[in-house]
Amino acid sequence: MKEIMIATGNKNKTREYREMLEPLGYSVHDLSEIEHVDPEETGTTFAENALIKARSVHDKVKMMTIADDSGLSIRALNGEPGIYSARYLEPHDYGYKNRALISRLQDKDDRYAWFTCAIALIDHKGVEHVFEGIMEGEIAMELRGDNGFGYDPIFLVPQFGKTSAELEPEVKNSVSHRGKATRALLEYLRNHPEEEE
Ligand code: IMP
Repeated sequence: MKEIMIATGNKNKTREYREMLEPLGYSVHDLSEIEHVDPEETGTTFAENALIKARSVHDKVKMMTIADDSGLSIRALNGEPGIYSARYLEPHDYGYKNRALISRLQDKDDRYAWFTCAIALIDHKGVEHVFEGIMEGEIAMELRGDNGFGYDPIFLVPQFGKTSAELEPEVKNSVSHRGKATRALLEYLRNHPEEEE
């Protein structure tokens, strides 16, 4: 059995990776099995931060490791909240964060925004890889939809004329930053079945 560590304490993330990786013959682990590691995310890009997390966990567990980092960037706000998406306006909830972003864009014509997801993989030889996906769209004028999480209610996906919180999960996944990055990761792993521990 090939062993792989997901550098997350989020059970939903672990479950999603498990569903994708078990069919490829991986036994999936996560941070609940090891002593707490919480490296400072000092990178300036999603890819750097994903690599920082992956390296610190890989150093400890010495098995193939995956870590991801994602967030929303808004052009008229010089890319904010960007890599600070999870920490933006802490400790308020996303209803508050989403309304705050809409009001910061009140007098702006440019509402272009994009989600990024970077997945870092450190393979069985210790070689680093990054798989990235983006989803382009616009910031809506108001919150819409109950699906998804985080900034989904304010993110308009142009080809559907809906926010990503109004999309069914499979539809969001077919066009999302995370869906694209994940498919690139899976394609790599499928093409490198020699990635044995
Ligand atoms: P991470 O778990 O450290 O990657 O943090 C990602 C943060 O970016 C989340 O807490 C959300 O605020 C935001 N984010 C990333 N992807 C999405 C998405 O698909 N929908 C909505 N918000 C997202």
